[in-house]
Amino acid sequence: MSQLADISHIAIIMDGNGRWAERRGLSRTDGHVEGVSTVVKIVKRAAERDVKFLTLYTFSSENWKRPQKEVEFILQLPKKFLFQYLPELMKNNVKINILGDIRQLPYSTREALKHAVRKTAKNDGLQLNFALNYGGRQELLKAFEEMKAAGDDVTEDHLEKYLYTAGMPDPDLLIRTGGEKRLSNFLLWQMAYTEFCFSDSLWPDFSVEEFDAAIDEFAVRHRRFGGL
Ligand code: IPE
Ligand code: IPE
Ligand code: MG
Repeated sequence: MSQLADISHIAIIMDGNGRWAERRGLSRTDGHVEGVSTVVKIVKRAAERDVKFLTLYTFSSENWKRPQKEVEFILQLPKKFLFQYLPELMKNNVKINILGDIRQLPYSTREALKHAVRKTAKNDGLQLNFALNYGGRQELLKAFEEMKAAGDDVTEDHLEKYLYTAGMPDPDLLIRTGGEKRLSNFLLWQMAYTEFCFSDSLWPDFSVEEFDAAIDEFAVRHRRFGGL
């Protein structure tokens, strides 16, 4: 067992599914299917490591720009995932939350998500956040609109009430697989002081060992939050 780290929230940009498939002469959608297996492994490991929050970037507000067939394929995966794994998630006391605007998702996906959120609402183990049709800028605009409608003063605390992550700690660690070193509109407000870890592994290849290694690296980082 690797070193213990004071880490309550890990966010992951699960990138590289398409390249994983293309390199094997498969279709990009096969890469997304394989990516789901990595999700299952990493969720299990996060729970074992007593991580309190795991936020997975599943579909961005900008991913609608992809070919319609790929978009449709990705957006029905959460339903399949939940159909297969909800019982196990229940057994492991996992609570599911959705970050993002689910109104634009296909009806059956939306219903499966709502069902999973309701069913796991009282679980008090790992909180598993799926960022789905999520964009950091869109989230901030929504929060400002709601703050304005409520007549609240513009303060950090008031703004945070209207974020999808209300009541959750900011991510301690961001992991991005797939070799790119950018945020791609993920949790812009919440990652002001997050530690970053970039992996060249494509998401379907990302292993439990690499996940552990990222937590170990985080444990020896010196966070200053602007202080000394
Ligand atoms: C991440 O993998 C999954 C989503 C964005 C939905 P990609 O599909 O972006 O894979 P690459 O980056 O093209 O390899
Ligand atoms: C980020 O990956 C979004 C998800 C992993 C869901 P992208 O593949 O969409 O990011 P860019 O386009 O390379 O920045
Ligand atoms: Mg990508």
